[in-house]
Amino acid sequence: SISNALEGKRITITAGPTREALDPVRYISNHSSGKMGFALAAEAARMGALVTLISGPVSLPTPTGCARINVSSAQDMLGAALNVPGEQDVFIGCAAVADYRAADVADQKIKKQGDEISLKLVKNPDIIATIAQKNNAKLVVGFAAETQNVEQYALGKLENKGLDIIAANDVSDASIGFNAEHNALSVFWPGGQQQIATASKFKVARELLYLIQQRLSEKL
Ligand code: C5P
Repeated sequence: SISNALEGKRITITAGPTREALDPVRYISNHSSGKMGFALAAEAARMGALVTLISGPVSLPTPTGCARINVSSAQDMLGAALNVPGEQDVFIGCAAVADYRAADVADQKIKKQGDEISLKLVKNPDIIATIAQKNNAKLVVGFAAETQNVEQYALGKLENKGLDIIAANDVSDASIGFNAEHNALSVFWPGGQQQIATASKFKVARELLYLIQQRLSEKL
C-alpha cells in the first residue's frame, strides 16, 4: 500500500537556502523557505523511510522521525551530503544552493568605503551533480525552478547533472513559488513525464515520493 511504500528506504534530502559569508556579520543568500524539502522529509518518514534532512538556515521544526543536520554554506552542505552514513537509496536535492560564494571571506567586518566596491565571487560546487557522479545514491532526484521553457531547461538539467528524475516548478507563478504553501510540478525522467497538479506542498510531496518509489523499483 502507499502508506508504507518507502519502508526501510534510506533517503537524504537537502532543503532551504545556503548562506555564503562575506565577513563575520554579512552574507549572500536567497528567499528559499525550506517548506518543500521539509514536506518531502515529513511525508517520506510517514511512508516508512529513514530520512536524513540536511537543512540550510530556515525557521521550520524538524519533521517527526527525521535525522536533521543543520548547515550554512554550500560547501558545508556538500560535506554533510557526502558524509551521510550507510548506502542511500534516494537523494533528493531540494535546497536552493547559492551558485557563488565570496572568493575571500573577510576576517573582520568590512568597513564602509567609497561609493563603489567590488566583490569577487567564485562558483560553488554542484552538490547534486557530485552525488550523482559518485553514485552515492541509487536514485538521484533534482528540482528545477524555472520561469520559462520549463520542459527544455528541466531536461537539460536532468542530462547535465546526471539525474534520474527532475521535478520542475514554474516560479513565475507566485502562488506556487518560494515561500508559498502550495506547489505544482512537471516531473521528467528519461523516457517519461508526469504532471503533479497544484496542491499543498505535503500532497505534492506524497505524489512525488510515490513516483520516486515506482522509478526505484523499476531501476533495481
Ligand atoms: O542548476 P540549478 O541550480 O537550477 O539546479 C537545481 C537543482 O540542483 C536542485 O536540485 C538543487 O538542489 C541542485 N543544486 C545543487 N548544488 C548547486 C546548485 C544546485 O545541489 N550548487
